[in-house]
Amino acid sequence: MSIPFVDLAAQYESIKTEIAEKISEVLETRAFIQGKYADEFAQSFLRIHGGSFGAGCSNGTSAITVALRALGIGQGDEVVTANNTFFATIEGICETGATPVLVDSLSGSHGMDPVSLKAALTNQTKAVMPVHLYGNPCRMDEISAIAREHELEIVEDCAQAHLAAYEGQPVGTFGGAATFSFYPGKNLGAYGDAGFVICRDAEVERLVKMHADHGRRDKYQHEIVAGNFRIDGMQAAILSVKVKYLKEWTALRIQNADIYDGLLKPKGFRVIERTGGEGSCSVYHLYVVEVSNRDAVQKHLNKAKISSGIHYPVPMSRQPALADLGYSKGRLPVSERAATRILSLPMFPELAGDQIEEIVSTFLEVAEP
Ligand SMILES: Cc1ncc(COP(=O)(O)O)c(C=O)c1O
Repeated sequence: MSIPFVDLAAQYESIKTEIAEKISEVLETRAFIQGKYADEFAQSFLRIHGGSFGAGCSNGTSAITVALRALGIGQGDEVVTANNTFFATIEGICETGATPVLVDSLSGSHGMDPVSLKAALTNQTKAVMPVHLYGNPCRMDEISAIAREHELEIVEDCAQAHLAAYEGQPVGTFGGAATFSFYPGKNLGAYGDAGFVICRDAEVERLVKMHADHGRRDKYQHEIVAGNFRIDGMQAAILSVKVKYLKEWTALRIQNADIYDGLLKPKGFRVIERTGGEGSCSVYHLYVVEVSNRDAVQKHLNKAKISSGIHYPVPMSRQPALADLGYSKGRLPVSERAATRILSLPMFPELAGDQIEEIVSTFLEVAEP
């Protein structure tokens, strides 16, 4: 039997009837843009995740742009972010006209290194964007202290970290704004593109909504030139069904990660080091293990029909599109080295314990720490 990397069909099967009813409700009421379903979902997501203000967006990339713009960040400003992230983090920053500045990660947890962050600050730095990669929270106590000392906005990229928490506080509530992706494979996934911004207060929420919707105050009164980055009514409605199961699905991910950890750690493999103590929660969007012979391991898993991935094989400092930023090879050594060793194994709530055992025993046939 083959084992997929993510199984969206299994999840769909379990909520099929509810989804069909909701889709037909949207079609009957025709609230396709803004309105009822976008508002309903925003309230449910804020309630379950934590946070009092926020609004839906068209996707996680536009959410970054909209969040930064709402906080007044743009041309001439620098936004410090992670070298090990998905390219969208950088695109969201660049779209505002601001310049991304890359910092290294901590080996083990893969989160933003506060020392590297401090070293990257300049007079132009306006914001820090930690990325809670793989669903593992960054060290938000140290990052928040640096941001406070240097009067920087914090805009968390929570695309992979729905319901994650650091020392009792949900990710997404540490700064002026935080962004989420509901790309189908995410911990909470739409049936298309969608995203979200959690905001510090009602004023930032008002600006986020304005920047996501043609910069308008009224239907034909436009205060700023913005764009169309709104959430789709149909996606919001689908997400309001799915959000009810997010806690349950997240618990299953963590349970699966515990099984993986229990099998891999005693064999000497380095797995994600969970950040924070009591009250912290890593939500395992991805299950990542480090190996020294990755190509051979992937080939072996492929042969056994077990899917795997690499998140991400090329750090931002080595991306051709960002060559102008001028990062030389070896400047961000921890994240550059990690990119050569990380391997993501199948992870989704419906993955069964005996499937994990099969994955790990196949992995152990060739993998070297
Ligand atoms: C870390 C990170 N940031 C941003 C994004 C962008 O989200 P989207 O694909 O919804 O635009 C993603 C998702 O792919 C991501 O993983």
